[in-house]
Amino acid sequence: MLFNYRDNLIRPVYNWYPYKEGFSWRLVDRCLSLAKTKIDVNYIGDPFMGSGTTLLRSKELGIKSYGTDVSPFAYLLSYVKTNDWNLEYDIPSLDKIDGEVDIYFELFPLSRAFSKTNYDILKRLRYWVENKTELHLLALIRAAMESSYIYKDGGVIKIRPRPTPNLFNRFKKHFSRMIDEKIEGVKPELEMKSAFEFDKPVDIIITSPPYLNNIDYTKIYGVELALTTLNQDYRIIRGRMMTSFIKSKTDGTGILPIKQKYLEESLELFYRFYDILKGGILFYNVSNSIINGVYYEIDLELMKLMEKVGFKDVKIVEYVNRNTKIDGKIYRIRESLIMASS
Ligand SMILES: C[S@@+](CC[C@H](N)C(=O)[O-])C[C@H]1O[C@@H](n2cnc3c(N)ncnc32)[C@H](O)[C@@H]1O
Repeated sequence: MLFNYRDNLIRPVYNWYPYKEGFSWRLVDRCLSLAKTKIDVNYIGDPFMGSGTTLLRSKELGIKSYGTDVSPFAYLLSYVKTNDWNLEYDIPSLDKIDGEVDIYFELFPLSRAFSKTNYDILKRLRYWVENKTELHLLALIRAAMESSYIYKDGGVIKIRPRPTPNLFNRFKKHFSRMIDEKIEGVKPELEMKSAFEFDKPVDIIITSPPYLNNIDYTKIYGVELALTTLNQDYRIIRGRMMTSFIKSKTDGTGILPIKQKYLEESLELFYRFYDILKGGILFYNVSNSIINGVYYEIDLELMKLMEKVGFKDVKIVEYVNRNTKIDGKIYRIRESLIMASS
């Protein structure tokens, strides 16, 4: 399944964090086989890199690549997965750690999401990893999420108290595994910045922007962000995200202005990508949307915008129809891979 992150869960390094919004590494291969019939591909870009699938696969295939994302957590994830590490096991016993940090989370006190034991361990380990590597930090975040009461239900974080594994043991397990796994190749260049500032002269872009739906990345990955930055800077990060989040059922004017804004921002991006690609190819993975019970073929609307900025030969090269539950009703929603030549 090209559009599904589950494929990544069975491959070392690709599976260091379950990023549900990611696509499969096979999608990168599919785009490359389509692109190579038309052009030479020596440089691949992903302006919405998320968990770094495009970049990690490019690294593995020995192709130079460049990626951006505004989320500090997505940046951490992509960086850790694509960097070359050479680390020894160095985790001390807990009683050797002589400090702890406060962790701010905007939605509720984070202590509610853990047993008392696990929360105490988390505060201490987060203090300790501050002077270690990003790989230590990612192993801790993964362990923390698995040892918490949190579960993610669509776009919403929920808490369900239940027996949870010991966080310290999970951390040791993930860290040990991660330092043993490697993918050799050409290291990508990554930047924590907006797709609207993406500026390297790549040959092809393989990317998946946020879809027009109810996922707010700063909320659904809020705990990961809190543990990554330890800052209270959600509003800044949220303000830099592409407009895609359908906030509420009604906001007086309805929610269609969000769709309008989404299309305007997409158009701005396409102008930028067109200029950068200069004879290259854009691969754009996007899903259609249900807004107030109405089905919108966003892929077709985006294809018109691509043609407007000058892209040629714009077509859907892969698609799948998914069953998606919204407000208790099941809808069939198309997810597509659009190919467009500049
Ligand atoms: C669908 S995910 C990409 C998943 C990726 N293809 C993967 O396999 O993991 C979309 C990503 O866009 C990022 N994003 C949202 N607004 C952005 C912006 N203005 N510039 C760059 N990245 C942005 C989000 O943080 C999220 O990681």
